[in-house]
Amino acid sequence: MKKVAAVGIALAALSGIHASPVNYTQQYTWKNVRTGASGGFVDGIVFSTKQKGVAYARTDIGGLYRLNADDSWTPLQDYVNATLWNEHGVDALALDPNDAARVYIAAGLYTNSWDPYNGKILSSTDYGKTWSRAYFPFKFGGNMAGRQMGERLAVDPNKGSILYFGARSGNGLWKSSDYGKTWAKVTSYTAVGTHIVQPGDTGQNGDIIGLTFVTFDSTSSTLGTASKRIFVGTADSTNTVYMSEDSGATWSAIPGQPTGFLSHTGKYSPTEKALYVSYVDTANTYGGSDGYVYKYYVQTKTWVKILDDNGTGFGFGGLSLDPQKNGTVMVATYHQWWPDGDIYRSTDGGATWTTIWDFDWSGVQPPVQRRYDWDVSQATWLPEITGDKTTGWMMGSLAIDPFDSDHFLYGTGASIFGSRKLTNWDKNLKFNLSSMSYGMEETAVLGLTSPPLGPPLLSVVGDVGGWRHDNLDVAPAKAYLGPSWGTTRSIDHAGSRPNIVVRSGDGDGGLALSNDTGATWHIHASAGSWTGGRAQLSANGDFVVWAVNNAIYVSANEYPFQQVPNIPSGSYYTANDRQHNGLFYAAETSNFYISTDAGTSYNKTTSSIGWIREIGVNPYRIGDVWVATDTGIWHSIDSGKTFGKVGPATDAYHVQLGKAATSNGYPAIFAAATIQGWAGHYRSDDGGYTWTLISDDQNGFGTPGNDVYAADPRLYGRIYIGTNGRGIFYGDAKASSPVPAASDVYGQCGGQGYSGPKTCPHGYTCKVSNAYYSQCL
Ligand SMILES: *[C@@H]1O[C@H](CO)[C@@H](O)[C@H](O)[C@H]1NC(C)=O
Ligand SMILES: *[C@@H]1O[C@H](CO)[C@@H](O)[C@H](O)[C@H]1NC(C)=O
Ligand SMILES: *[C@@H]1O[C@H](CO)[C@@H](O)[C@H](O)[C@H]1NC(C)=O
Ligand SMILES: *[C@@H]1O[C@H](CO)[C@@H](O)[C@H](O)[C@H]1NC(C)=O
Ligand SMILES: *[C@@H]1O[C@H](CO)[C@@H](O)[C@H](O)[C@H]1NC(C)=O
Ligand SMILES: *[C@@H]1O[C@H](CO)[C@@H](O)[C@H](O)[C@H]1NC(C)=O
Ligand SMILES: *[C@@H]1O[C@H](CO)[C@@H](O)[C@H](O)[C@H]1NC(C)=O
Repeated sequence: MKKVAAVGIALAALSGIHASPVNYTQQYTWKNVRTGASGGFVDGIVFSTKQKGVAYARTDIGGLYRLNADDSWTPLQDYVNATLWNEHGVDALALDPNDAARVYIAAGLYTNSWDPYNGKILSSTDYGKTWSRAYFPFKFGGNMAGRQMGERLAVDPNKGSILYFGARSGNGLWKSSDYGKTWAKVTSYTAVGTHIVQPGDTGQNGDIIGLTFVTFDSTSSTLGTASKRIFVGTADSTNTVYMSEDSGATWSAIPGQPTGFLSHTGKYSPTEKALYVSYVDTANTYGGSDGYVYKYYVQTKTWVKILDDNGTGFGFGGLSLDPQKNGTVMVATYHQWWPDGDIYRSTDGGATWTTIWDFDWSGVQPPVQRRYDWDVSQATWLPEITGDKTTGWMMGSLAIDPFDSDHFLYGTGASIFGSRKLTNWDKNLKFNLSSMSYGMEETAVLGLTSPPLGPPLLSVVGDVGGWRHDNLDVAPAKAYLGPSWGTTRSIDHAGSRPNIVVRSGDGDGGLALSNDTGATWHIHASAGSWTGGRAQLSANGDFVVWAVNNAIYVSANEYPFQQVPNIPSGSYYTANDRQHNGLFYAAETSNFYISTDAGTSYNKTTSSIGWIREIGVNPYRIGDVWVATDTGIWHSIDSGKTFGKVGPATDAYHVQLGKAATSNGYPAIFAAATIQGWAGHYRSDDGGYTWTLISDDQNGFGTPGNDVYAADPRLYGRIYIGTNGRGIFYGDAKASSPVPAASDVYGQCGGQGYSGPKTCPHGYTCKVSNAYYSQCL
């Protein structure tokens, strides 16, 4: 909630500030546009050992999810808004083995200097519905290298008030003794895990990985007393597994352990009195070319190698034990790119292993013989992305259901896979290996367009291409094909001929056209070798404007692209009039340009409306153009020659126009903006003078600068918001929810004899001053 200084309250109350022009009331229903699979990296999966069916999965940029009985997942962090954006990076996950409702996550996205936020440990006592926060004096890295190692956060199975957290960046081991409320550094633990994937890198690979896992020997004490034996993994080239046998008072590297590779995952088997550890040679998210699996017997103090990749080119990642079957262990190769990721299973404590597929060189093709039938019925487009990989890649988390030996799940770079018939493996019967991430929408959305005919929405996303969404609530049967790229950057339809669509992406022939609203495609005849950029169509669809390589290029009817000659080089945001075929707009930093000659020349009209972030065109009126800048929302009715600032916004990231509320009304305007100090998503029905807040405490959409917008030209009130890691949402105005009148900011909201409105504007709370007067503060 907003904090207002006491002095400010007194002054404002005296100066008699009145009703805000903003409706601060939730009036929207938000739903994910379904794609049927996560589409992103699922790097941690943990089952409750206390309650059957309770499990959570964490993602690197899209938050935490809880498993449902029907194998689908419920998102738990859609509250994440501009202020809380880095909580969508979940670096670690822990459950209380004795209290199924308690769940903990280490939240934070990057340890780099450009991420302003320190890490937090979030605690929930209600299965992740609500959270409280412990603030750390350093950063966590939910989207940094090594994020799939772990879990580096764990709850003592004998005493739930005790948690340990293994930090990154050289910050060592931390402990809480009050259910995660407060934390202190464990000074007796001195190893910090010095491995850096790529020293000097300013992205995900340049920082110290730190500690990798924390796990306990639950048999080392009894319920109610802190466990005596604790294991901690580190990412070091020497010792990587440490142990305490006095409840964390003292620690030492376990003698005789293997050195050279990094400990990835450690799991303790109380029935075998042994710690299993998987190892990999690097913490690189896309790497891993050597490794093994060891087992440490605490009674005999011996290490035994139980699995070795023998230098064949992969390390080991996800590892899980079946607590119902003594000696049953599974381990995934972390990143075995050829021919496919593999999973090893042993039912005799690692003495012998079988694999989920085997080479068969007997002449039968293909040489890979699988134990499973691959089932992607939840997301039939997945094979377009995974190609011939059916097991997956980036398999850093694997979990056998502690209540059901037939049920296991593992995370990959693009989905969760798993089975409900796992023990068929031991009977040499086939089982379904299924994509099981329905409800996880983890894509980074890069572009959206909502044409006035055909499907309501076309999307483009990072890594997995994008879709024509014929039905927003049903996973599309296929992703874009012919060409199919991974990361796809932009998509647009032609205003007057909306069957014509263009998209640009990072791959061969990086520009494609469709004339059936995205169902089929061909590479633009003059695409050449460029990739990416932002491509837009003219109203009739015959011109493509391509902002790429720091310039604007224009092609008519697929003839070769001509560079627009009269503008300086720069990274341009472009938009075209939806009705006038030759009227194009462009912006770069604070400069606004128009072209009235179909892109032959662009001329600057202003540089005084602020830093330009988005141009929105009124699809129903020629020359009516809106601009979101760091000073607010600007409007032009003369094709961008002159602008006036409209409404109370002081900062805006997006502005798009959709169908009007009434037949002769002004189009609905949607904006991501700051209005009266409140950064949110808004709609205006009166040409931008008054605004209704349409985001709320449960629907925050992350950081608006990384979102993308499209307004529906067919359905009044419908807005699409593409997020950076939580997929696409569509929002509709609630049909019959009259806005309850709210008191004014600093106005009366209660007291004896008072009969006026009792709710306060968003961000203000009704506080009792005395029996006769309560005030919105
Ligand atoms: C984001 O949500 C938090 C928690 O609800 C709230 O305190 C904060 O003010 C919100 N920020 C914005 C910009 O809406
Ligand atoms: C608030 O919303 C209601 C319903 O959409 C509308 O009638 C009213 O004019 C709005 N008020 C302002 C100040 O925008
Ligand atoms: C588990 O298996 C080990 C052998 O790997 C055996 O020594 C131990 O007794 C077994 N424990 C139980 C509870 O079955
Ligand atoms: C490595 O070699 C050993 C001994 O030959 C063998 O048992 C094991 O299966 C090999 N590991 C792999 C991953 O092929
Ligand atoms: C296996 O998956 C297929 C679809 O790919 C489905 O038709 C079949 O019913 C599944 N089998 C089981 C046992 O779930
Ligand atoms: C539509 O595109 C296809 C190729 O994708 C092409 O064969 C066909 O001629 C196009 N039709 C029109 C009317 O442009
Ligand atoms: C744009 O500027 C060029 C000179 O750079 C001029 O020739 C052209 O007429 C101008 N176009 C418009 C629409 O003002």
